[in-house]
Amino acid sequence: MTKSLQTSADNPATPLAGKIAVVTGAAQGLGATFALALAKAGASVVAGDLSSTDATCAAIEANGGKALGASLDVTDGGSVSAMLKAASEKFGGIDILVNNAAISGQLRLQHLTEITSAEWDRVLTVNVRGTFECIKAAAPLMKQRGYGKIINLSSGTAIKGSPGIAHYVASKGAVISLTRAAARELGGDGIRVNAIAPGLTMSEAMLKNPSWTSDIVANNIASRALKREAVPDDLVGALLFLASPASDFLTGQTLSVDGGSVMT
Ligand SMILES: NC(=O)c1ccc[n+]([C@@H]2O[C@H](COP(=O)([O-])OP(=O)(O)OC[C@H]3O[C@@H](n4cnc5c(N)ncnc54)[C@H](O)[C@@H]3O)[C@@H](O)[C@H]2O)c1
Repeated sequence: MTKSLQTSADNPATPLAGKIAVVTGAAQGLGATFALALAKAGASVVAGDLSSTDATCAAIEANGGKALGASLDVTDGGSVSAMLKAASEKFGGIDILVNNAAISGQLRLQHLTEITSAEWDRVLTVNVRGTFECIKAAAPLMKQRGYGKIINLSSGTAIKGSPGIAHYVASKGAVISLTRAAARELGGDGIRVNAIAPGLTMSEAMLKNPSWTSDIVANNIASRALKREAVPDDLVGALLFLASPASDFLTGQTLSVDGGSVMT
C-alpha cells in the first residue's frame, strides 16, 4: 500500500496547519484563549474586538504563530466586512470563524422587570445580530473554498434558564437556534455550524464582576458532575475539535462544556 505524503496538517500537534481562523471578541477572556489555542494548533489567526487585541496578537507571535489584529464591531456589517477583507488579503481567505464577542462578563444580575428596553436591545444586538452579521459575511468566503467551520458561543444559561440575566439568556438561546438554521442553510456549501455552551467559566471579566463571585460560583460547582471551577482552558478541547476535520460530519449541534451540569 502506498503511504501518502504527510503534510503538516497531519501532525497531531498542528491539526489546523494552513487554516485561517477569525476569532471575535479576542481582546480578553475566552476569545483570547481561543485565539492562542487555534494558533498553537497551526492556524493563522485574525483577532477582532472593540478593544485592542495587541496583547493577544503579541502572545500568538511570541509563540511562533501568525496573527492579525482587527478593530471590530460585530454589530456593524461594514466593520465585519473590513476585517474579513483584511484577513483575505493577509492570509488568503477564511476557514474557521469563532463567534465569541458578546455582552457577557460585564452584566450584573437584575430581575427581568428591571431590565430596560435599551439594555435588552443592546445585549440582543451584540450577541445575536453580531453573530448573524459575522456568519453572513463569512459564509460566501467559505463557500468559495467549499469548506468552513463556524463555532458560535452560546451558554449553559440558555438551557437552564438561569435567573437574573433574562436578556443574556434569551440571546444565547437565539444563538442555539441560529446555529441550527445556519447549519441547514450552509451545509450544502460544506460549511459546518456548531455551538459551544460553556458553564460559568472564570474569565478575567467574571473574576472582576461581583455578580459572578459569591454563592453563584459555589452553586454552579455543586450542579456539576465534575465538582470544580471552570477556567477558559477547559473549553479549548471542544473548540479545537469543532474547528478541526475530526468533526467534519457534525453540524447544527450545541456542545455543553460545563463539567456535566447540563446534560442534553
Ligand atoms: N465566561 C463565562 O462564564 C461564559 C459562560 C458561557 C458563555 N460565555 C460566552 O463566551 C464568550 C466569551 O466570554 P468571556 O467571559 O470571555 O466574556 P468577556 O466579556 O470577557 O469578553 C467579551 C469580549 O467581546 C468583546 N465585544 C463586546 N462587544 C463587542 C462588539 N460589538 N464587537 C466586537 N467585540 C465585542 C469585548 O470587548 C470582550 O473582549 C461570550 O460569548 C460569552 O457569552 C461565557
